[in-house]
Amino acid sequence: MDKFIELKEISFSYKKGRNIFDGLSMTLDCKESTVITGSNGSGKTTLAKIIMGILKISSGEITIMRENAAHMSLGKTGELIGYVFQHPERQLFAASVFDELTFPLMIKGTAAAEASARAQEMLDLFELDKVRDSYPHFLSYGEKRRLAVAAVLMNKPKYIILDEPTASLDAKRIDTLSRVLKKLEDENIGMLIISHDREFTKRHGQRIIELEGGKILNDVRY
Ligand SMILES: Nc1ncnc2c1ncn2[C@@H]1O[C@H](COP(=O)(O)OP(=O)(O)O)[C@@H](O)[C@H]1O
Ligand SMILES: [Mg+2]
Repeated sequence: MDKFIELKEISFSYKKGRNIFDGLSMTLDCKESTVITGSNGSGKTTLAKIIMGILKISSGEITIMRENAAHMSLGKTGELIGYVFQHPERQLFAASVFDELTFPLMIKGTAAAEASARAQEMLDLFELDKVRDSYPHFLSYGEKRRLAVAAVLMNKPKYIILDEPTASLDAKRIDTLSRVLKKLEDENIGMLIISHDREFTKRHGQRIIELEGGKILNDVRY
């Protein structure tokens, strides 16, 4: 879907602050990997949170699958779009790695056997099987990040947003993540990757958007 996410002249400011975005427009394709890059403070994380409905715009319109996002619940947006936070430890809450993966599916009423099977796939894919019974907060930073990505994929979202996914991962783990993302690309899951990592960006961005001061500086398709 070419206009999977559409931002139409959106404006946003944090309380009492200046406008971070002032009439920004952008469309994101569901079947494409888009990288957003740009210096610190250029608004990348804010943009991701706006798309997810976590932050509310002051003017303009956002549509997801051509539906006005203002009328969507956070839960609905979260079903369509998986979001991996810049600080993944903030999205981990369960008592074990395994529960972290299965819990959201169980809540939705997925059969335990199916949830377990899918969790096992993720544990293998992300090399987390060794820590399946560990408390997520005690994992290494790299493990937390992999777990956060795995947890988001449990839902089979149509699109995922990854905020600085390679931060604090070593080269080997970045390769692992790359392989998983390639697999998702092959399954036609679109993604928005927020990243400074040029190597990673080159590997994954079919389109690279550069933000500066809340404005699009460059938007190039490869
Ligand atoms: N919770 C917040 N309250 C006020 N200002 C914020 C908050 N979060 C970010 N900002 C400001 O918004 C701007 C964009 O930040 P951010 O979206 O985090 O940029 P990036 O992810 O590109 O580094 C920065 O000037 C930052 O200081
Ligand atoms: Mg950021």
